[in-house]
Amino acid sequence: MNFFPIFLNIKERPCLVVGGGEVAARKVTMLLKADARVSVVAPELSDSLRTMVEKGRGVSHRVGTFAESDLEGMTLVIAATDDAAVNRQVSASAKARNLPVNVVDQPDLCTFIVPSMIDRSPVQIAIGTGGASPVLARQLRSRLEAAIPSAYGRLAAMAESFRERVKARFQSEERRKFWERVLEGPIAEKVFAGRDDEARKDIEEAIAAGATPNETMGEVYLVGGGPGDPDLLTFRAMRLMQQADVVVYDRLVSKAVMEMVRRDAEQIYVGKERDNHAMPQEEINRLLARLAKEGKKVLRLKGGDPFIFGRGGEEIETLAEEGVPFQVVPGITAAAGCASYGGIPLTHRDYSQSCTFVTGHLKDGSMNLNWSALAQPNQTVAFYMGLKGLRVICRKLMDHGMSPDMPAALVQQGTTPNQRVYTGTLGTLPALVERHNVKAPTLIIVGEVVTLRDKLGWYQPPGA
Ligand SMILES: C[S@@+](CC[C@H](N)C(=O)[O-])C[C@H]1O[C@@H](n2cnc3c(N)ncnc32)[C@H](O)[C@@H]1O
Repeated sequence: MNFFPIFLNIKERPCLVVGGGEVAARKVTMLLKADARVSVVAPELSDSLRTMVEKGRGVSHRVGTFAESDLEGMTLVIAATDDAAVNRQVSASAKARNLPVNVVDQPDLCTFIVPSMIDRSPVQIAIGTGGASPVLARQLRSRLEAAIPSAYGRLAAMAESFRERVKARFQSEERRKFWERVLEGPIAEKVFAGRDDEARKDIEEAIAAGATPNETMGEVYLVGGGPGDPDLLTFRAMRLMQQADVVVYDRLVSKAVMEMVRRDAEQIYVGKERDNHAMPQEEINRLLARLAKEGKKVLRLKGGDPFIFGRGGEEIETLAEEGVPFQVVPGITAAAGCASYGGIPLTHRDYSQSCTFVTGHLKDGSMNLNWSALAQPNQTVAFYMGLKGLRVICRKLMDHGMSPDMPAALVQQGTTPNQRVYTGTLGTLPALVERHNVKAPTLIIVGEVVTLRDKLGWYQPPGA
């Protein structure tokens, strides 16, 4: 071990930062987070440092260059100047007084180094490479940042607030089990989902009963899997996908996204071929409730966003009625994904001041939509499930005054390696579908913004 890892209490303690640039400003910010009293010595200050000094929140400034006397009464010292001689002098003087000293980016002059930090106060995770590779430490940090929920701090604070009571109620082995159950199970999940009051109540009940928290009831995670590219999943979606016992998914969830689900989770396919639902909606609703009541963590994974043409509302209504806990995680909806990966901004100051998401699903051969509103200029209309009814859509928009020359696009399997984008006009769209044998899932975008694709198209799927 080149360095001994410790967490230092510097609350209200005087700390010295030598240097007045941006690097020094970052160090000052860090010290202030730990409530230190910071003295800065520098001939002049960067704008951000000057602002900190002016705000007077624990920072003072002495104009000048470093002098031995600056070390008087200090707890630790950081040198962040671009003058190698000054940095060496600070290091030597601090070492002579046995003061911990850090010289930015010069490990040989340091008696301590500053780790890369993941801050979920009061939880702090420090990553160090002994000065070998700060970049590697930062890369590790970003991986961990993604994996550790931002609410970990709240969970730790909640645990702290019950610590004494749990200690008084349970013997050591029981106590360990109690905390393991709280910190890994549904109670922690409630905190991550912002349901702190419920979590608190569960802990209270478990303490009162003198037992580990009751876990007979599972939970449903209604998660938006996005339009296909797994890189578009949210951190929360990724985390829940890793801890599910069973996944209930349908056709729109891409294979690449399914790859991200915990390997040993049971997988239940509930279909949803167009007009040929593999499992009726009511049955899916009941299935989710039943699995959760068996104590399982159920991942209900849907394509795009669960609340946009996803029937997510219906599914959790049943859960709410039956008292089954659930949480909803948004996903990138097809319109957002197809627009970005197709180089077609949905709004643009020159062309479109609003955007409407519409279902183009045919019911009894027709569509009951407000066509005159959809045919208005200066807007974009994104049709979901519109392929089968495309002729009706184009005809109706033209009947209500939209020009046959209005630019329009078909985005098939948007954001995936199979993405294909075909652009034309309202008048030519049906022929485009036939010529290219366009298949679902395809999003239809109608509006002047489609012309921007020539300039803004950036995504080149392999083999396109
Ligand atoms: C039942 S809706 C579900 C929408 C989903 N909840 C969402 O937010 O994207 C299915 C329709 O979404 C559109 N869609 C979904 N994924 C798509 C993709 N990767 N590319 C193009 N369109 C997509 C298609 O219009 C498809 O018919």
